[in-house]
Amino acid sequence: MTKKIQFFDTTLRDGEQTIGVNFSIEDKIELAQQFESWGVDVIEAGFPVASKNDFEAVERIGKEITKTNVIGLARCVKKDIDAVTAALKDAPTGQIHVFIATSPIHREAKLHMTQEEVLEAIHHFVSYAKKSFTNVEFSPEDATRTEWDFLVKAIRTAIHAGATVINIPDTTGYTNPHEFAALFDYMRANIPEFDDVIFSVHCHNDLGMATANALASIQHGATRIEGTINGIGERAGNTALEEVAAAMHVRKDYYKAENNIDLKQTFKTATMVSEKTKMPIPSNKAVTGSNAYSHESGIHQDGFLKNHATYEILTPQTVGIDHASIPLGKLSGSHAVAVKLSDMGYQVSKEDMRRIFPIFKSVADNQQLVSDEDLIKIMQKSKVAQ
Ligand code: KIV
Ligand code: ZN
Repeated sequence: MTKKIQFFDTTLRDGEQTIGVNFSIEDKIELAQQFESWGVDVIEAGFPVASKNDFEAVERIGKEITKTNVIGLARCVKKDIDAVTAALKDAPTGQIHVFIATSPIHREAKLHMTQEEVLEAIHHFVSYAKKSFTNVEFSPEDATRTEWDFLVKAIRTAIHAGATVINIPDTTGYTNPHEFAALFDYMRANIPEFDDVIFSVHCHNDLGMATANALASIQHGATRIEGTINGIGERAGNTALEEVAAAMHVRKDYYKAENNIDLKQTFKTATMVSEKTKMPIPSNKAVTGSNAYSHESGIHQDGFLKNHATYEILTPQTVGIDHASIPLGKLSGSHAVAVKLSDMGYQVSKEDMRRIFPIFKSVADNQQLVSDEDLIKIMQKSKVAQ
């Protein structure tokens, strides 16, 4: 049986931790509706105890989103759990996400707690959350910098207290795909209850490996991937969910796993997040950037024109972008120029091209790109009629 990977979107929670991003409640509802159409399985709507806006957003999303699971975040603190319970009391799909840090640096410098005290807090607060929610996700914050034997104790304590999902956060983007895979193998070998719960991952991008780490975990037992659209989030951001979805599509042969994402709505979803965060999608962003389907050099343009698959592993149409582009510039070859001229209505023979191409090159050498207007002038100079 092909395994199914759940997508957990935290754009509205960790994504809102991006410097300068502050969604209105209406924005959050509109985005949550789009995430539901895109096909995510869980929407982390906010951190209700953090602010009035967060509480109200979680409450409203919980009522308005009825198909996708809506989850609220809480520390291992009674008032946090009570706030999620109150915000989601009328939500048909409400769930809770409880976390506490487990790594030595967090235990000592932030929490001032011993290992035993952390385990007691996990037991106490997961059990408390379980009184109000059937589905409880537990995260040992900074898991990847936690002693592996203690991490296993923390996870087993949460499972025994009723957690149904164990999320492994790479809170500081510290791990790498090989190490993360090894951690999963270690957990599988040392947690007898491994297959009784869902294992999720939540990766940060501090060293640029958030997507790679998330993908590596799929083959070692994770069945839920947390992330954000456009990879926004605390510091360098989170796993970009659209990249995971695209990789799973392009490399179905490798990941051998399915998901519920409607890839055709990817660009629409990314554009909506970009507009609401006022953060343009970088032109070289994987999957959704404007350069991702543009072919610049002559060799690439020639190959692409002969067969798109030479340089295109993902078609723009798959993610809802109209078409690829072949911008003309100083690296372009005569094949791409001839195709463009023919698209513009010029009948250009091979002999014409021998005259036109050197003029094209001299124009292209002095500017970033050659526009249609430039081409018309080049054709007038070359005396080739349309
Ligand atoms: O990065 C992190 O550890 C988190 C947790 C709250 C899951 O965002
Ligand atoms: Zn995070």
